[in-house]
This record gives sequence, C-alpha cells and structure tokens, in this order.
Amino acid sequence: MLISVSLGLEPECLGNMAKCTKSWALANNYYPPCPELELTMGTDAHVDTSFITVLLQDNIGGLQVLHENKWVNIESVTDGACHRVITKSVRPRLSIAIFFNGVISSEKIHGPIKELTSKENPPIYRKFSTDKLVKNFFSKSLEDVGSNLDYFKFQSRDDDN
Ligand code: OGA
Ligand code: NI
Repeated sequence: MLISVSLGLEPECLGNMAKCTKSWALANNYYPPCPELELTMGTDAHVDTSFITVLLQDNIGGLQVLHENKWVNIESVTDGACHRVITKSVRPRLSIAIFFNGVISSEKIHGPIKELTSKENPPIYRKFSTDKLVKNFFSKSLEDVGSNLDYFKFQSRDDDN
C-alpha cells in the first residue's frame, strides 16, 4: 500500500494488480571472506524475478548495481536493477533477501501502469506474464540473466507485445 501511495496511485493499486505478497521466498546468504578477491565472485550479475525484493544486509558492503554500464556500490537500498555481490577479504558478508513473487508462473499479463506513463514518459517494457519472465530467467546461464529484463524492452524484439 505504501509503495502504491508513494507512486501517486490508489492505495490498493499494486496489491490488487499482482497479488504480489501472495507468495514469497526467503534467502539467507552467507559470503565467506576471500583473500584473493580476483579469483571469486559473491553472486554473479542478475535481475531478481520477484515483484519486489526486500534485502537486509550487514554493513560490510559488496552489493553493486549496474548503472549506466558501471558497477556502483549500494549501501543499503536497491531497486529492480541488475545487481551482483562482490566478495570481501576481511570478514564474511551476511544478508537476508525476501522475494515477493506474487503468483509465480501465472499466465496473467502484467504491463506498464497507465497512470504512470504518458507521451513524454512512454513505457519501456512490453507486457509480459510472470510465467514468461521466470522461464526466460531459468533458460539462461547466470552470466546472461543480467539481461533478463532487457529481453522485455520494446526495442529488443518486434514480435509479441
Ligand atoms: C539475491 C541477491 C544480494 C545479497 O539473493 O538475489 O541479490 O546482498 N542478494 O546477498
Ligand atoms: Ni538478487
């Protein structure tokens, strides 16, 4: 509800649309320290398939998002961007991620919210189902899933909608 309101939408807009709290998964991540950082990667680049991920991380750092083709360190907040975790050499990193998945593998089609798009601010992504999003995610190797959302961008493919 708070996210809907903060976007200027009716309070139940997102909740009704995606039933996004209907199912969720929790990941407890433990990244051991590594003295030879160039030999390891905490989590390779990827985009989560959940509607929203809430991430509790400690203060060791390591989470990065891809912004304008550069990896940027994220202190405590992240959005739906392509992201990864780099390993640290000093001590382990701990994080807890809750993925609000909604109805996974549903064929219901989701698309840009009309109230948030306009001629000046046109939609970036095509309409797609969570079924398609999840199938696309698991059909790729982890190095390629960073582009999972790009696949649904308007300019990436002409067919489909
Ligand atoms: C994830 C993820 C980040 C972290 O589990 O999808 O990106 O800080 N985790 O562990
Ligand atoms: Ni993630």
